[in-house]
Amino acid sequence: MNDVMQTDRILIIDFGSQVTQLIARRVRESGVYCEIHPFQKVTTESIRAFDPKGVILSGGPASVHEMETPRAPEGLFTDDLSLPVLGICYGEQTMVQQMGGQVTASDHQEFGRAMVEVINDCVLFQGVWSPGETHQVWMSHGDRVEVLPDGFRPVAQTENAPFAAIANDDRKFYAVQFHPEVVHTPDGAKLLSNFTHKICDCRGAWTMAAFKDEAIQKVHDQVGDGRVICGLSGGVDSSVVAVLLHEAIGNQLQCVFVDHGLMRMNEADEVVGLFRDHYNIPLVHRDASNLFIGALEGVDDPEVKRKTIGKLFIDVFEEEAKNIGGAKFLAQGTLYPDVIESVSFTGGPSVTIKSHHNVGGLPERMNMDLVEPLRELFKAEVRALGRELDLPESFVRRHPFPGPGLAIRIPGAISRDKLETLRKVDAIYLEEIRNAGLYDAIWQAFAVLLPVQTVGVMGDARTYDNVCALRAVTSADGMTADYYPYNHEFLGRTANRIINEVRGINRVVYDITSKPPGTVEWE
Ligand code: XMP
Repeated sequence: MNDVMQTDRILIIDFGSQVTQLIARRVRESGVYCEIHPFQKVTTESIRAFDPKGVILSGGPASVHEMETPRAPEGLFTDDLSLPVLGICYGEQTMVQQMGGQVTASDHQEFGRAMVEVINDCVLFQGVWSPGETHQVWMSHGDRVEVLPDGFRPVAQTENAPFAAIANDDRKFYAVQFHPEVVHTPDGAKLLSNFTHKICDCRGAWTMAAFKDEAIQKVHDQVGDGRVICGLSGGVDSSVVAVLLHEAIGNQLQCVFVDHGLMRMNEADEVVGLFRDHYNIPLVHRDASNLFIGALEGVDDPEVKRKTIGKLFIDVFEEEAKNIGGAKFLAQGTLYPDVIESVSFTGGPSVTIKSHHNVGGLPERMNMDLVEPLRELFKAEVRALGRELDLPESFVRRHPFPGPGLAIRIPGAISRDKLETLRKVDAIYLEEIRNAGLYDAIWQAFAVLLPVQTVGVMGDARTYDNVCALRAVTSADGMTADYYPYNHEFLGRTANRIINEVRGINRVVYDITSKPPGTVEWE
């Protein structure tokens, strides 16, 4: 076990900011392991048990003036723990308030870009900002610090926030009113790196090479000589899990690829070719397309489609698992954003927009223990791990693809013919994106086959064929998204090719809806 990774860790206490995950990503990018814990669960004892080298207090929607506002454990500010602390936005305010300073509701709220003026040297700014300079930051606050607690000095100010950054060097307490974790604070990542390295003394051993070795060791320890079944879909997460496990336990791993017939053109062959033929991973390829397409006949409701596919997937997977003699363990590509407990202030259940959890309930039903080697990772880290494992770039960089596949890209009932048409359109579209060098600039791109016929003219003849829509979005996590601003030439060329090369399509439209209010997929 790599003990550097064990000791050098930062704790992020989450007060419910929308961007807490970005703090974690920036800290990890600085080579330091960190975890996000919701404020309700953090106590002086739990911090001691986690044994971090420093603590970051996130922003949050609360005001320190409200009743029952979240607080950091008192032990952080007494001599109990003696750990460096960085407060961000609400984190600054609660730190100031808890240490005897004063925070007031400000008439001048600051939201968005602001310029800070550096007024004093500070280790947080070392090698990045110097006194007298002004720099762009991102602000989002209503309250502001009015009186500093004893021992603090201001190190940066804005027009509306005289204490935009403050420091107590003796105790290694620092705080900023702005958000260093967002890209709109261009130097923010460097400031966070100064906190983790220069203030907390972390060594920066959180690399994917080190993670890989540790993950392989953990898998060994967990499964011993037991067998592990892994559902492979060809997506980044399951591909990385499969290759990592194969490296760890060789042929104790058995992969199952349930082919529902709703994949993109040639995708099933690529998955089988890479994992079975190239990596020599034991792989069952079950072509269940007849079963899935048959069950979806006449089904036009998006949620019924999802549930039908999800249920069948579990049935088929279970059958194949039994065929190969069962296993004690089931491997899953669960990522860190799925396991972070988010801070909810309303406490109420959120509305289900779409039921994404296609295979929920599978481990309980099959009575298997879970192996989840990616539980600590963000998506970008999974990609880095894939590279560390020599997965081809085409797999590492692959756009996300939904579990129900093309079925949710054909509004209304699906059919084999419609799937065939959509595959052709989609393949041309992606080829044009790759040729234009745009694939990596886009989060996800795909075509949708609309159940709408329009009149057209080709040659001298009238046509009455289908419309397809093209979609491409940029996004950081799929939660929000913007449409991709192609130039007209790209759109014209792609539309021409689709209409000329795919029978049954005589019109192409481009979807310019962002999320929200739209969703990424059409169903
Ligand atoms: P939406 O359409 O909800 O999509 O804005 C956000 C992200 O989730 C993917 N998506 C799904 N993934 N099963 C999945 O595994 C689903 O049922 C599903 N629906 C949407 C979508 O492709 C995008 O990446």
